[in-house]
Amino acid sequence: MKTSELRQLYLNFFAEKQHAVIPSASLIPENDPTTLFTSAGMQPMIPYLMGEKHPAGTRLVDSQKCFRTQDIDSVGDNRHTTCFEMLGNWSLGDYFKIEQINWMFDFLINKTKLDPNRFYVTCFRGMEEIGIPRDTEAAEKWQAKFKEVNVEAKIVDNAETEGMQGGRIFYYNEKENWWSRAGVTSKMPVGEPGGPDSEMFWDFDPKGELQIHEKSDWKDAPCHPACDCGRFVEIGNNVFMQYVKTKNGFEPLKNKNIDFGGGLERMVAAMNDDSDIFNIDAFAKAKEKLEKLSGKKYGENKDEIQAFRVILDHLRAATFLIADGAVPSNKDQGYFTRRLIRRSIRYANKLGISNKFCADLADTYIEVYKDVYTYFSTSRDKIVEELNAEEDKFSATLENGLKVLKANVASWEKNFKNIKFNGGFSFLLYESYGFPPEMTLEELLKYPEVAKQLDVEEYWAEFRNNLKQHQDLSRAGAEQKFKGGLADTSETTARLHTATHLLQAALRKVLGIHVEQRGSNITAERLRFDFTHGEKMTDEQKKQVEDLVNEWIQKDFEVKCEELPYAEAKTKNVMGLFENKYGDLVKVYTIGDVSGEICGGPHANRTGELGKFKISKEEASSSGVRRIKAVLE
Ligand code: ALA
Repeated sequence: MKTSELRQLYLNFFAEKQHAVIPSASLIPENDPTTLFTSAGMQPMIPYLMGEKHPAGTRLVDSQKCFRTQDIDSVGDNRHTTCFEMLGNWSLGDYFKIEQINWMFDFLINKTKLDPNRFYVTCFRGMEEIGIPRDTEAAEKWQAKFKEVNVEAKIVDNAETEGMQGGRIFYYNEKENWWSRAGVTSKMPVGEPGGPDSEMFWDFDPKGELQIHEKSDWKDAPCHPACDCGRFVEIGNNVFMQYVKTKNGFEPLKNKNIDFGGGLERMVAAMNDDSDIFNIDAFAKAKEKLEKLSGKKYGENKDEIQAFRVILDHLRAATFLIADGAVPSNKDQGYFTRRLIRRSIRYANKLGISNKFCADLADTYIEVYKDVYTYFSTSRDKIVEELNAEEDKFSATLENGLKVLKANVASWEKNFKNIKFNGGFSFLLYESYGFPPEMTLEELLKYPEVAKQLDVEEYWAEFRNNLKQHQDLSRAGAEQKFKGGLADTSETTARLHTATHLLQAALRKVLGIHVEQRGSNITAERLRFDFTHGEKMTDEQKKQVEDLVNEWIQKDFEVKCEELPYAEAKTKNVMGLFENKYGDLVKVYTIGDVSGEICGGPHANRTGELGKFKISKEEASSSGVRRIKAVLE
């Protein structure tokens, strides 16, 4: 089975069940202040899961590109990748649990012919203390489906301590089988929707021949589907979004939603019955190239397999990220692209590759994906250019950093050891020269006298502490914003979103109609807007734009939303960046007679709600593109 075949089979399967096929959104979320990347298929769907009407209807299906920063360090095992496609089917207040389980089983077992004897599912155990019952409905439906294919499916409730016990359907607690954006029930802010979920697993080692479990740290504990040894791999998650958190606990949602997320690459691995996700077709060409460049064979030497996997994963992710606009840099999304490329280079060194190789690998991915993501072809030059430039920068960085490190060691030897080579030193080197901390450690350990005074654990703890204090990408910051309350955040987002439309209209009035949106991003504090314009704006122009936007805010225009067929919207005088992003029906937001844009929303009701508009920064973004940051005071 090939990745593209399975993707298509799935989209067709649900299209036949009246689902509208919608394209993947960008990896860089628009107007979502809570996160840097699209990390789940449900993320671009949030407004619709919260009750907003989706122009394409109440049944949707897609394959969403995702990127998970939290998995960077897990890459190297048989199943983790930072970048993946999440198959998704959605019911927005339409069908629910019983239909979903029915169709999922039909798709995986009856249609794509996975062996039901290797297929396991999990359901939510329930939490009496907050009034949420055990999901017997889901478990019983699965049991009935297994029966249809003559598999007696035993339900087990204590696998964590007792293991499999011949079970096929397993109850777990909220850590495994509850889904909300914020995680477990206690972490959810008021207003956040969530619900029990039902995960699906493939058993890669039914006879114990591969001894996957025995190889794991869990060796002495009994294996069961949620054990993370890698024998059972989660291939999909059916989220039954049926509750909302309120001040008084949990209440049923008026509109019950289905949010299904399936790991496309993992499903392909299951179909091929190969426990190594890096053996699927999507990686084949890149792997071949890497073997050629290194003169080594994937899988031959187990000490090298991690390096292969890291490079294969990271450069695929970097290709996707650059294509979506996250070029390597020191902050925001670009920071991660940089990290992925630099890590790849370091791991390539371990495989003995010292020449530039990143663009070569990216080319193989462009080839694999260009039919599905057609913009890959047009972005090719940019991807190659960015990768090459980053490789150059990194080698200069290494050279420089190494020089500084050696000078410090020399002076340490001379000055009787008055320099402390710890995580603080490594952080300075990292912050000032971009020198990777793991390399600092490696280098320092080469000097026996230095090595003697170095405690590796302490080293990392100190480095992380320093980093935490300095990081502008602080996770805590993001979480803080999130805790600020969903209602608050979404109101601010809506106001900034409306301000963005006014800004675009004002820029076109002041600078000319060559101004077009190139990107937009909103956090809880500010808006950011990238637009085509060849030169720096003068102070006078900035003032004119501000005045114009504030004048429109004063006029308290109503923000109107209309749903129109895409073709009809195009005949009106409206701006629209995303060709056919949401299928045939689109939303057009008009603000008085000053702005008309195709857009998914959400927006303020009237411009009077916006407050005072102020440009905080105007700068170059890339060639021919300027960037404005602005706030509402
Ligand atoms: N939203 C669910 C997940 O990401 C499907 O696992």
